[in-house]
Amino acid sequence: MARTPLIVGNWKMYKTIPEAVEFVETLAPLVADSQAEVYLAVPYTAIAPAVEAAAGSNIVIGAQNMNDSTEGAFTGEIAARMLVDAGAKFVVLGHSERRHVFGETDAFVNAKVKRAIADGLRPIVCVGETFEQREAGETNEVLQMQLEGSLAGIEELGDLVVAYEPVWAIGTGHSATPKQAQKEHALLRKLVGKQTLLYGGSVNPENAAVLMAQPDIDGVLVGGASLSEISFSKIVKG
Ligand code: PGA
Repeated sequence: MARTPLIVGNWKMYKTIPEAVEFVETLAPLVADSQAEVYLAVPYTAIAPAVEAAAGSNIVIGAQNMNDSTEGAFTGEIAARMLVDAGAKFVVLGHSERRHVFGETDAFVNAKVKRAIADGLRPIVCVGETFEQREAGETNEVLQMQLEGSLAGIEELGDLVVAYEPVWAIGTGHSATPKQAQKEHALLRKLVGKQTLLYGGSVNPENAAVLMAQPDIDGVLVGGASLSEISFSKIVKG
């Protein structure tokens, strides 16, 4: 069965509302004929305007994080149902910047994944080893622990997506080689079966197609190269 590739842009903390709207309006005709699913994880403030700008196109808007509670006294946090309310369809959870800069644990990511599923958001759960862990030969163990911890107690994975993002490849310009990435994806495939598996970490228009040609890579999670309509649309079009 032919796979439908999933291409996810992760804007991180970039783009104001007018910039987001202009991007979506420019991108929409460029990817209109694409066979791939096109997702954009935008800043919270841009979700509703981006959803409106994407109406009638094949661009799907989502968020980059959320809290695990439905509501409460959590200053500065955002709930899944608020994201749904704004029009988000998916959420990136456990991104390496959340894990390493903001100290998120597998247990916290796990609680968020459960909440996202319960509240109707498609989770994109990120895992990945650091350079030190890879050098120490711990990659498989780290990936397995992160994945099992993040998905603990979830019986029905539904349309949940797993993204393999080696920390040493994120924002460095040094992506994993297709062979390296496929090796880790094969491990993840054994753990999550038919779920969609993305590779992320310095994906660009030059390396995306060969990465996605690997048997267990179903799509890509793109940071830096998703900030330009030109490079992102090139990745989508393959
Ligand atoms: P990058 O980021 O493409 O800029 O390496 C990927 C990510 O953080 O999701």
